[in-house]
Amino acid sequence: MSRPTQAVINLAALQNNIDKIKQCVPSQKIMAVVKANAYGHGASEIAKALAPAVQAFAVCSLEEALGLRQAGIQLPILLLEGFFDPKELPEIVQQGCEIVVHSPEQVAVLRHYSQPLPSLWIKVDTGMHRLGFSVETLPTVYQQLQDLLVKRRLFSHLACADDLDSEITFEQIARFKKLVQTYNLEASLANSAGILGWPTTHWDWVRPGIMLYGASPILGTVAYQHHLQPVMTLRSTLISIKYYRQGDSIGYGASWQCPKDTRIGIVAIGYADGYPRHAPVGTPVLVNGQRVPLVGRVSMDMITVDLRKVPEAQVHDPVVLWGEGLAVEEVANSAGTIAYQLLSGITSRVKRIVVNCPEACC
Ligand SMILES: Cc1ncc(COP(=O)(O)O)c(C=O)c1O
Repeated sequence: MSRPTQAVINLAALQNNIDKIKQCVPSQKIMAVVKANAYGHGASEIAKALAPAVQAFAVCSLEEALGLRQAGIQLPILLLEGFFDPKELPEIVQQGCEIVVHSPEQVAVLRHYSQPLPSLWIKVDTGMHRLGFSVETLPTVYQQLQDLLVKRRLFSHLACADDLDSEITFEQIARFKKLVQTYNLEASLANSAGILGWPTTHWDWVRPGIMLYGASPILGTVAYQHHLQPVMTLRSTLISIKYYRQGDSIGYGASWQCPKDTRIGIVAIGYADGYPRHAPVGTPVLVNGQRVPLVGRVSMDMITVDLRKVPEAQVHDPVVLWGEGLAVEEVANSAGTIAYQLLSGITSRVKRIVVNCPEACC
């Protein structure tokens, strides 16, 4: 029998989540963000399943876009950081991709490029202070790009929309609103948090990522509170059960000692699968559907759990690390990280099993 470590990808949950998005934005166009292998879920399968329900996809690079094209995806694909090298431009156009333009260097290349150009999304820095043109330089950039006679749209990204009281978000919305009024172009601002928590960010196109995959984009909340369902369930099994005496230490560094005589379960999942190495003692794990605490350090291929609360547990019994029954947000919180990192960090040695596949999908 091969290693039992699997990421089960539930396309019925994906459908539930896209339905939820459509309830929030019934008149907007949806650009599904499937970068980073669809946040670790498998970009081809996710994009094929979403294609009937969305108007475009967004990825990080041309390589990611090519993967979608090879999978038969025909919808427009936006490259969120545009081109990294001008040599990419012919293929970007040939593949029907669109690009974000965020830097003067990119504008200079586009202005001197004599071949057909892709559609452009002009990225404005409304307060994120990462990529994008400042509001002050936008008129010049707009003018320079106007000569190119290609379709242009406005684009910006929210820095703090996960915090529903964020002043910065109010300021970003106000700045973006002015720009949309001035330039009268199609516009896109909202990520998942914008879609769920900030109706005035919706404009023409929304760009959901994390909520598609069934994790909450809003601080201090978990997915089910927003009627989202986890698409990925990371699961494995108990591969060994041991009894240790009070005071015995467990695993690397002997960092945890049994407070009493303890039944310890060893689970086939580790940091080389994407389980967070820094998950502390007490991080919840489901054994036979019941919560038990992680104990000792996370190893490359294994973790250890305290089985005192599940005395009936046996070798081969099912273990869930996150997903159905255990919110990835909770595991992320415990490990001092975010659901995005856990989901997108699943490594290639974890088998992906797609379930509840609609007929048109696989
Ligand atoms: C530009 C841009 N738009 C949208 C998204 C989707 O964000 P979220 O996953 O929070 O919905 C991302 C993700 O990082 C992004 O970089």
